[in-house]
Amino acid sequence: MVETMSQNILLTGGAGYIGSHTVLQLLLSGYKIVVIDNLDNSSAVAIKRVQELAGRHAHNLEFQQMDLRDKPALESLFSSKKFSAVIHFGGLKAVGESVQKPLKYYNNNLIGTITLLEVMAAHGCKKLVFSSSATVYGWPKEVPCTEESPLSAANPYGRTKLFTEDICRDLHQSDSEWKIILLRYFNPVGAHPSGYIGEDPRGIPNNLMPFVQQVAVGRRPALTVFGNDYLTKDGTGVRDYIHVVDLADGHVAALKKLADPSIGCEVYNLGTGKGTSVLEMVAAFEKVSGKKIPLKMAGRRPGDAETVYAATAKAERELNWKAKYGIEEMCRDQWNWASRNPYGYEGSPQKSACFLPCLPRNQVQGCLAQN
Ligand code: NAD
Ligand code: UFG
Repeated sequence: MVETMSQNILLTGGAGYIGSHTVLQLLLSGYKIVVIDNLDNSSAVAIKRVQELAGRHAHNLEFQQMDLRDKPALESLFSSKKFSAVIHFGGLKAVGESVQKPLKYYNNNLIGTITLLEVMAAHGCKKLVFSSSATVYGWPKEVPCTEESPLSAANPYGRTKLFTEDICRDLHQSDSEWKIILLRYFNPVGAHPSGYIGEDPRGIPNNLMPFVQQVAVGRRPALTVFGNDYLTKDGTGVRDYIHVVDLADGHVAALKKLADPSIGCEVYNLGTGKGTSVLEMVAAFEKVSGKKIPLKMAGRRPGDAETVYAATAKAERELNWKAKYGIEEMCRDQWNWASRNPYGYEGSPQKSACFLPCLPRNQVQGCLAQN
């Protein structure tokens, strides 16, 4: 705690789903945080709620609405503050949209990242944690996916992740002062157990659990299951779902790892190592919510892999981090958030409410202190 107190950390995209949960965990660990986000896929209400959850740490959070590609604005931020490290979440992530609008994705994700790296270099800030994705494993030939598994991309979004990983490796190769951790997330789901922050996608959700939650609250009639003819236990796709708070804690561990002088440019999977099918996930959600999720079977979604789950040994060994929460806790917290915020941040200005906390008290301390 003592050594973290003085550290300013910049989070790009910190108003988003994973970013907002990570901001909270970092604040509770004693870091000072600046968030920049253009709010393209998020709401400033998320920042306000994180501040409320952070209780006595709230004053350590500052937010600036900014686009990563606005170089003068980034320059001015880096001139005004010294950052120990940057965690770079900011980017677009809708796979289908990236196929329709590839230039939008290359422009935002690649130019945004390059601009950020240029400004960091100019100001001598050479520590980075980057949000990569299990999407870089494509349709894996073997599971679990290890950090050494072959890489491929099935769409422009995935290619921006592969390119960015390569850019980071080249950067470290050119200048060994760069310390970079590439985190390959598997499938983040759930929400903070307070039910006060969570995922609030714009438009029709692309991902499984945001869609399930919208069916559960009556916003959509049924879940379309994309494919029930895979060679899996029940024919539906298998993924490695990870509680978003576990994922957020993985970033705290990665930041600590950046202090290790031997680190260069390293990649770590953040997953649980367990595969769960679509039908198993739906059953777990129905059990904890008491809601029936009507299903509509449909063909496979183009670009989807059959089975993807993580090898977790490297992160456990080198980051000293391991996911703690299971499917039921993920679904319970997803439902807690959804039932309290059926229309997301903008739709339901509810007051803080903590119930069913599944995490240790210190992780919900700000929230509990309020109530
Ligand atoms: P999100 O959309 O909720 O958060 C991303 C944030 O970045 C948003 O708040 C958005 O407004 C902001 N942003 C986008 N472009 C920006 C720009 N040019 N300048 C400033 N801000 C910008 O997404 P998330 O689920 O929290 O994902 C965070 C990161 O993790 C993304 O890079 C995503 O690709 C990656 N990732 C997500 C998943 C997932 O399933 N959620 C899986 C693997 C990797
Ligand atoms: N699925 C459905 N119906 C839906 C949505 C999804 O049946 O409405 C199925 C998919 O076919 C898949 C599983 O649920 O079998 C998970 O799908 P998601 O879209 O939730 O997740 P993906 O594994 O396809 O991809 C997500 C992100 C990617 C990221 C990847 C790994 O969308 O950006 O996880 O982290 F790269």
